Amino acid sequence: MTFRTLQGADLKDKTALVRVDFNVPMDDGRITDDTRLRAALPTIAFLSKAGAKIVLLTHFDRPKGKRVPEMSLKPVVEPLAKLIGKPVQWADDCIGQPAQAAVASLKPGDVALLENLRYHAGEEANDPAFAAELARLGDIYVDDAFSAAHRAHASTEGVARLLPAYPGLAMERELKALDSALGNPERPVIGIVGGSKVSTKLDLLKHLVTKLDKLAIGGGMANTFLYAQGHDVGASYCEKDLAETAREIIGLAGRNNCKLFLPLDIVVAERMEPGAAARVRTLGNVDEHERILDAGPETVARLKRAMANSKTLIWNGPLGVFEIPPFDKGTVEAAREAARLAKEGKLVAVAGGGDTVAALNVAGVAGDLTFVSTAGGAFLEWMEGKELPGVEALKV
Ligand code: 3PG
Repeated sequence: MTFRTLQGADLKDKTALVRVDFNVPMDDGRITDDTRLRAALPTIAFLSKAGAKIVLLTHFDRPKGKRVPEMSLKPVVEPLAKLIGKPVQWADDCIGQPAQAAVASLKPGDVALLENLRYHAGEEANDPAFAAELARLGDIYVDDAFSAAHRAHASTEGVARLLPAYPGLAMERELKALDSALGNPERPVIGIVGGSKVSTKLDLLKHLVTKLDKLAIGGGMANTFLYAQGHDVGASYCEKDLAETAREIIGLAGRNNCKLFLPLDIVVAERMEPGAAARVRTLGNVDEHERILDAGPETVARLKRAMANSKTLIWNGPLGVFEIPPFDKGTVEAAREAARLAKEGKLVAVAGGGDTVAALNVAGVAGDLTFVSTAGGAFLEWMEGKELPGVEALKV
């Protein structure tokens, strides 16, 4: 992969169109988690210091080409200005006169935020005319929104083809981390894929077994694999219609020398509620009213040994119902071991996906892994081995 880098660029007095992802959780016009705002700060500071004028482009939610007032980015202006430590110019449209006026008012180092890109249908349609309207606002394009890079939209793909295009600092860091986990990893590489549904992760599992040395399957989706192997799963969540697919994945793993780790033991309960009576069981030993809600201690111990014997870990999805203790135990224990090994420099540990980040936070170790991606769809598509249009467009 070859990309231009901001470090070597002449940025003085240049207007930089910076694609960020400010699709932040919002409740009644207030931001409830500003992680994505903070993620953009290093690039903004870098450009500002280098004397560029910074024009921030982002989508918010899915207004589908219409001006939906509840999906305005205006509520982001003040919190962003506070984080940056200086005023942020606002334009209530991302193209045309309002955008041009806001850009014209900028001095080197200043920052403007433009209204929701998706108020225009041309954004999602990657309409060349809309991309050209955006491009005329700036001299260079900087993409700092890995989490939107799986979309071939005008602001992530079209405009990158019209201006000299650079990855932002967060994007650069993310691409390097992902490459060290799956593109060009130190071996052996172990993967953990959890979560409830096999059906949403078929492409992921099929791709990973061709890339990894070991793959542990956990969470509800492991039930489908256990069922496919003839084990009783009681009242557990299980996609029985995918039993054949699960067997295919087991076969594919074998042909690709990927050692598959399915649960050795399980934690079951009759009710999925905090503090419910949980029992450890051997495989298949599940009563008809019981549900499998976590990985058992032997399974977790084997996973911890396998991590210790690996050089790289890539993790997506929890091993159990981590939101409801005591069924968080397997996920928390595995996460803490990954964090310990990463901190000791023994394991490159990369994790991502919405649930995964939440699970690592429950374990209190999100900050201790080598890299944690907060991208949802983009992280999954990357793990599936798909090309991300927003990344492809940055290559030189
Ligand atoms: C996200 O929140 O995952 C990104 O901003 C992409 O949003 P989208 O799924 O609406 O394209």
